[in-house]
Amino acid sequence: MPVGSEPTSVATVIGDLEAAQARGASQDELLEAAVRAIEASEPRYDWVGIYLLDGDMLTLHNYVGRPTEHSRIPVGVGVCGSAVAERRDINVPDVRELENYLACSVETRAELVVLISDPVSGRIHGQIDLDSDRPGAFTPEDERELRRVADWLGRLF
Ligand code: SME
Repeated sequence: MPVGSEPTSVATVIGDLEAAQARGASQDELLEAAVRAIEASEPRYDWVGIYLLDGDMLTLHNYVGRPTEHSRIPVGVGVCGSAVAERRDINVPDVRELENYLACSVETRAELVVLISDPVSGRIHGQIDLDSDRPGAFTPEDERELRRVADWLGRLF
């Protein structure tokens, strides 16, 4: 890192996770710590959660933000299920333009889903899901940084 530059917020998230892992945190605790740290890292992130994939169903592991009724989402349904079905991260600038969308909150405008996969086999284990009340909230840099966190989490399975 160049002298005088600040660590990125995601570098801080990964640093927190590595410290928790070194203290012996379990996989569940690390998934919870990741959600808390990501949400705290950036005010644009109004809702952050991790869904885990169990067969053809995504199950909400933990989240920070407004309560959601979507604790189980079938593959192919909504933004979350589409990301798994299409095996790709999805950045939606404005969810009002989507038909295949499950509303978590009427305030939500933007959504970013980043897949958590096994680094060797590529098997999908789940995803980080972020919502923002601001249209177009998620930048290419957010995508890159969250991908680094997801890659770190993908090694835990
Ligand atoms: N909006 C998601 C559902 C999850 S909530 O945002 C927490 C979707 O369309 O899959």
